Amino acid sequence: MYKISVAGTGYVGLVAGVCFAEVGHHVTCVDIDQQKINMLKQGISPIYETGLEKMMQKNSALGRLDFTTDFIQAYKDADAVFIGVGTPEQPDGSANLSYIATVARQIAETIEKDCLVVVKSTVPVGTNDKVEQFIKDFIINDVKVEVASNPEFLAQGTAVRDTLEAARIIIGTDSIWAKEMLMKIYEPFNLPIVSVSRRSAEMIKYASNDFLALKISYMNDIANLCELVGADIQDVARGMSFDERIGSKFLSAGIGYGGSCFPKDTKALDYMARQNGYELRTIRSAIMVNNDQKTILYRKASNRLITFDGLKVAVLGLTFKPETDDLREAPSLANVPLLLERGARVYAYDPVGSDNFRQKYPESEYKIKYVKKPEEALSDANVSFIFTEWDEIKAIKPEDYKNLMRTPLVFDGRNIYGIESMRNAGVEYYSIGRQA
Ligand code: UGA
Repeated sequence: MYKISVAGTGYVGLVAGVCFAEVGHHVTCVDIDQQKINMLKQGISPIYETGLEKMMQKNSALGRLDFTTDFIQAYKDADAVFIGVGTPEQPDGSANLSYIATVARQIAETIEKDCLVVVKSTVPVGTNDKVEQFIKDFIINDVKVEVASNPEFLAQGTAVRDTLEAARIIIGTDSIWAKEMLMKIYEPFNLPIVSVSRRSAEMIKYASNDFLALKISYMNDIANLCELVGADIQDVARGMSFDERIGSKFLSAGIGYGGSCFPKDTKALDYMARQNGYELRTIRSAIMVNNDQKTILYRKASNRLITFDGLKVAVLGLTFKPETDDLREAPSLANVPLLLERGARVYAYDPVGSDNFRQKYPESEYKIKYVKKPEEALSDANVSFIFTEWDEIKAIKPEDYKNLMRTPLVFDGRNIYGIESMRNAGVEYYSIGRQA
């Protein structure tokens, strides 16, 4: 078993660290945020992720998992340092690599024995070459250091399962030493390993995420056409899904992809292409379709209603997808400001996302209320929007809209309900890619 340090306790770093400890490695997770480290030391996970907190507590108790801000202690005798810090989007769409650079410099200045540096963060192709050179430029002690790419494919909400039961582990390095150590680190996971060059590994991450984003935008595009020509996108998707070449997943049309990855990674790949004198037309189209899709329901509702002024609007779901409290690039953030601007009184329900939303849109400054039950949002409402397919929202029955709302008018961005069942309950129902 190895002594592993992990830089960054966000989704990628924390989940990786906890899972490495779970399979028996000795792990130290490092972050600059003292408050976060204090929480983690007390066994509290700063992110909402099924199974993570328990696994964290168990491995801390077993002495295999520790948290610290003291990177010198953590890195100096580590066999491997995994970098899982953020690479946020910059205004021009490129990835901000300053956090990676900071960690790389800290590693260079602290390691006292041979060390494998493994970049898990999503970084533009060629970054790992530069990180290795950067570390070598700043290294103090006479020790060997190599950098390998090992992109992460976990999705929020299912992060622990996605890590322990990953479809594949991508190892990107041309060095036998680095490859062998990574193979040993991952051996206890018993998962398929794909070993490629560093640049190919970096590209696999973007190409995978952007392919999924493209798939979603394609289905959204087809859904919009379905509405116009009298077809039903759910039936179309079902018919397509039997073809193994297409696959059955990520065929759900909706109000666009959100989250911290697809929007950022599509823009980053587009930027990377332009930097290299190439226009990535497929991905540009996916981005354009997604931007329009996010407000498609608002536009539909604006056509149906003369005004939102003074109307009680129920917003069901704020997070970008269920099982997370993350609001990044969530469709709710594209729609709620428009509704507020147009004079709506917004009553928002989300099982876990309200506190984060409140920080951006406090009740004291906006005509918005955060309610604890969907019924409170729906009661006497003039119109309702569904933005996230939480189980708690799916549990609302068609009759509830009819019985609770002043006018049972529902715009569903996640195609939760059957058209017939809403019609039979007396609800005026609009969704995505289906007939009204
Ligand atoms: C995504 C990828 O699925 C992970 O494999 C990847 O590791 C991760 O990005 C990352 O790069 O870190 P995540 O953003 O957590 O994971 O969420 P997804 O479950 O992929 O959903 C992304 C968005 O697509 C959500 O807004 C979801 O509502 C939307 N979506 C998904 C659809 O609109 N339709 C679908 O059929 C599937």
